[in-house]
Amino acid sequence: MATRFNNAGRVYVWEIPVRLTHWVNVACIIVLSFTGYYIGNPYVQVSHREAYGPFFMGNMRFIHLLFAYVFIASLLIRVYWAIFAGNQWASWRALIPFATPEGRGKLSQAFRYYFFLRREPPTVLGHNALAGFTYAVIIFLYFTQTLTGFALHAQVNPGGFWWTLTGWVFRIVDNQSVRLAHHMIMWLLIAFAIHHVYSAFLVDVEEANGLVSSIFSGWKFIVPESKEELPPTASEQGGE
Ligand code: HEM
Ligand code: HEM
Repeated sequence: MATRFNNAGRVYVWEIPVRLTHWVNVACIIVLSFTGYYIGNPYVQVSHREAYGPFFMGNMRFIHLLFAYVFIASLLIRVYWAIFAGNQWASWRALIPFATPEGRGKLSQAFRYYFFLRREPPTVLGHNALAGFTYAVIIFLYFTQTLTGFALHAQVNPGGFWWTLTGWVFRIVDNQSVRLAHHMIMWLLIAFAIHHVYSAFLVDVEEANGLVSSIFSGWKFIVPESKEELPPTASEQGGE
């Protein structure tokens, strides 16, 4: 897929599937956290004399399951895009920077920046190496959340479809540990989100290349330091 520029020195980095799945995941995680926390620790006492009272927990569990399916569909779209159809910045390669010497160099650069050992931000067009690696861990948590979630769900119908797929989990760990893992991953995602939003705004200010708006519009500004990531133009290839 040809890289798109415009004459304002901007490059189209985040394609629609990357931005769409990002915001669908954010919406799902918010709803799944509120309904999930309620399942584990009902924070609203609803009187059964209220018309909606008797089935309030049932409705919370239904909403949780509904958004769980949306969340999984979004994950599968993003995985498909990372492997088969995305541009260089959406590719799965951006999530494993440690696989190449150059990537490891960028990883330590980003690490030293975030830990105040280096003043210049690692200005890149795609994910900086540390962000990319962190997203790989987050995506691993997404899939663990899905596995533990479906394993919990499978208990409603032992022998059913989800039990066949995930029942083996209970041969390794007991039910309470699966619940605890599922619950704790929620807190890990919330902690990640707090740092993620802070660093998105920090790096936006430091790199001045439109990072935060890019996850809405897809476009980032080309700054001199990030030029090396761009594919060679026709003239650089010696063509006209
Ligand atoms: C980021 C995504 C998710 C978050 C933050 C989340 C959060 C939670 C929390 C906090 C609980 C309560 C655990 C407890 O008992 O203490 C829960 C329960 C549950 N979650 Fe999730 N969840 C997520 C995704 C999923 C997914 C993808 C599924 C797949 C079906 C799922 C299925 C369930 C089920 C079946 C329960 C147990 C319901 C019960 O005990 O009756 N969750 N979730
Ligand atoms: C629950 C909250 C959030 C989670 C779990 C989350 C997770 C992620 C993940 C996994 C990516 C990588 C996207 C990909 O390659 O597919 C990403 C990218 C990004 N997110 Fe979020 N996000 C959250 C909220 C936000 C919010 C509220 C903002 C900003 C207002 C934001 C700004 C960004 C930006 C700018 C990128 C691209 C970063 C880069 O260049 O590495 N995110 N986010």
